[in-house]
Amino acid sequence: MAAAASSFNTFSLLLLLFVGSSSAQLSTNFYSKSCPNVFTTVKSAVGSAISKERRMGASLLRLFFHDCFVNGCDGSILVDDTSNFTGEKNAAPNRNSVRGFNVVDDIKSKVEKVCPGVVSCADILAIAARDSVVILGGPSWKVKLGRRDARTASQAAANTSIPPPTSSLSNLISSFQSKGLSTKDMVALSGSHTIGQARCTSFRTRIYNESNIDGSFAKARQRKCPATSGSGDNNLAPLDLQTPTAFDNNYFKNLINNKGLLHSDQQLFNGGSTDSLVRSYSSKPSTFISDFSAAMIKMGDITPLTGSNGEIRNNCRRVN
Ligand code: HEM
Ligand SMILES: *[C@@H]1O[C@H](CO)[C@@H](O)[C@H](O)[C@H]1NC(C)=O
Ligand SMILES: *[C@@H]1O[C@H](CO)[C@@H](O)[C@H](O)[C@H]1NC(C)=O
Ligand SMILES: *[C@@H]1O[C@H](CO)[C@@H](O)[C@H](O)[C@H]1NC(C)=O
Repeated sequence: MAAAASSFNTFSLLLLLFVGSSSAQLSTNFYSKSCPNVFTTVKSAVGSAISKERRMGASLLRLFFHDCFVNGCDGSILVDDTSNFTGEKNAAPNRNSVRGFNVVDDIKSKVEKVCPGVVSCADILAIAARDSVVILGGPSWKVKLGRRDARTASQAAANTSIPPPTSSLSNLISSFQSKGLSTKDMVALSGSHTIGQARCTSFRTRIYNESNIDGSFAKARQRKCPATSGSGDNNLAPLDLQTPTAFDNNYFKNLINNKGLLHSDQQLFNGGSTDSLVRSYSSKPSTFISDFSAAMIKMGDITPLTGSNGEIRNNCRRVN
């Protein structure tokens, strides 16, 4: 009896240790038993969304960034506002800007059909971001999984945690540092701006009032972005003027030519400490690709909810 009790206790202790440690971190095989088809299901839904609209790949990648930088990668950006709940969708960096929520709903409903109640919305964002990059011609990496979904969201944290396009280089470095990401991670991840679009309001001051910008590039962008605030605010321009729907290293080549669209983009190549990294990514795509992949994995590790924290949301738009 005593022996049985003590071996039971030893077993419980080991179990606790095991559960404790496995719940503390993410793993690439998290759904290998519980949802072996999650990768093919997500990839085919992302593929059909991108074949309808190539920009969607960029939008899905950005959703993951804006999720991870606000209290960790926990699906909080996906929760809708209601009369008695204010989430992150209308926070300053997101309002009229982040998109792709219908595609996330579509992915989630397809995943729910193959494995009901198993895969978190936070993990769906992580997989969809990777698949988007791959489909647009970028690198692949092994996505770590096991995140759970938040039961809360924070507009205040979204307002302050996502760096604005007016950021200086030192703001960018410290913003990423506060999330455990290095300057190299920051520059590599900024290479995401090789795809997607920005609104006039995000780059107006730069194209009219900055001097570290190529003159003909500024003129071209001014044509669809009037100087007066309030007019044409939502007119779009590609973040990478060369290949806006291909994931390549042209973003860095643009910076070297003073053709970064956002003030924050050009900060990475403006005579400061990150110039050498920009030069290296512009001349060696393989270095960019490997640093980018490593940094995406690091970004996906930002304070996830694991184990029995949070929940597996049934509908990504609302807590259960
Ligand atoms: C380094 C700091 C960053 C700043 C200041 C920044 C800022 C911005 C801004 C202002 C826009 C345009 C939004 C609009 O006008 O509606 C944008 C778009 C975008 N950002 Fe960033 N961003 C940063 C880092 C990142 C990172 C780390 C990623 C991904 C890992 C990312 C992915 C994207 C993508 C893909 C788009 C285009 C989205 C679309 O077309 O729907 N950005 N970003
Ligand atoms: C908030 O409103 C929803 C309906 O929109 C309701 O189900 C929920 O109980 C309300 N929550 C609180 C805390 O009042
Ligand atoms: C977040 O920013 C928006 C837009 O500037 C503002 O309207 C809102 O009140 C802010 N929310 C919080 C909680 O700080
Ligand atoms: C450019 O700078 C001038 C002088 O500071 C200012 O009046 C104007 O509003 C700025 N224009 C834009 C588009 O930022």
